[in-house]
Amino acid sequence: NNHLVIMAGGVGSRFWPMSTTEKPKQFIDVLGVGRSLLQLTFDRFKGICSPENVWVVTNRSYKDLVLEQLPEIPVTNILCEPCRRNTAPCIAYVSWRIKSKDRNANIVVTPSDHIVTNCEEFKRVISQCLKFTSETDAIITLGMKPTRPETGYGYIQADLSSCSPRNKEIFRVDSFREKPDLETAKKYIQNKSYFWNAGIFIWSVNTIVNAFRIYQPAISKIFESLQPVYGTPKEQEEIDLRFPECENISVDYAIMEKAEEIFVCPADFGWSDLGTWGSLLVQTKKDLYGNGVIGENVSLFDTHNCIVHTLDKKKVVIQGLDGYIVADDGNKLLICKLSEEQRIKQFSSDNK
Ligand code: GDD
Ligand code: MG
Repeated sequence: NNHLVIMAGGVGSRFWPMSTTEKPKQFIDVLGVGRSLLQLTFDRFKGICSPENVWVVTNRSYKDLVLEQLPEIPVTNILCEPCRRNTAPCIAYVSWRIKSKDRNANIVVTPSDHIVTNCEEFKRVISQCLKFTSETDAIITLGMKPTRPETGYGYIQADLSSCSPRNKEIFRVDSFREKPDLETAKKYIQNKSYFWNAGIFIWSVNTIVNAFRIYQPAISKIFESLQPVYGTPKEQEEIDLRFPECENISVDYAIMEKAEEIFVCPADFGWSDLGTWGSLLVQTKKDLYGNGVIGENVSLFDTHNCIVHTLDKKKVVIQGLDGYIVADDGNKLLICKLSEEQRIKQFSSDNK
């Protein structure tokens, strides 16, 4: 059976003031299409996985947001973390939880902060990966063709001479490197065998549980020991007690950099990680001067390459800016050079 895991516990701090710790970007209609990024993620998997097999793992403070935005899924499929420990503990928890219910589960894990423009191609790629992992012990990650030396992504080096006899679009991975420095990223993108890690993983429940046992024994012990309580009224109480013991580490460092049997499926379905204002500008329809405006009453003069975001009907007039973010949510206003956007995290340090 196919299961979908949506990771939705991040804070999206580089997207302040639209994204705050109270309501992070995945719960917001960032694109102005009437659906939040979380809802768009759920929609993308319709037809691949039925709602009773969709799991959302999030911080307990966002449970109500998930319930409200995804009424289709059973409330018992919303798993709540008592604290932030990044994506490895999140994936370990949900994997052991799914295993307690379905020992033959075949799983796709996806972030909730991405956009995909070609959903048909996306479905085709995911379906063939699920077929592959239902027949093998593979860990599969999706590889995106890099277009810039981005240091916020993981890089996959594929062995392009090694396509699997089962599927000509899936290759062995030589190495996986999470968030390299700029020099290294520049080297990688000159080589055709490197791909960005899309952060979407496909594996069977047994494969990922075994990988955790081998590469993260401490985390595994915690979720292994909770087996008697999964699906019972005691689950939350025990998780609240034991989850904080987990190391704070992402699955990219915890498993992907270490595991040996990794495969990559290079794909092109119009993918983008909406991590920062700059990435939103890339996705937004631009005027003749390279400005992306989301807002109904904005007038620009002598202004170039700016992203302007106002949610209400406020009248906004901007003159003479080049390469800036102007983001207003009513109570908070950000004006920041696009080239400094990685620092927004620090500027808005309370993130409220
Ligand atoms: N449940 C839960 N708990 N979810 C979390 C947590 C957590 O503690 N931390 C992050 N998430 C969720 C986020 O909401 C997001 O949907 C997803 O996990 C990925 O986390 P990010 O924090 O956005 O990761 P990243 O963008 O820095 O890096 C990952 O994605 C890149 C592509 O977008 C890595 O997998 C990179 O290798 C990859 O290139
Ligand atoms: Mg991200």
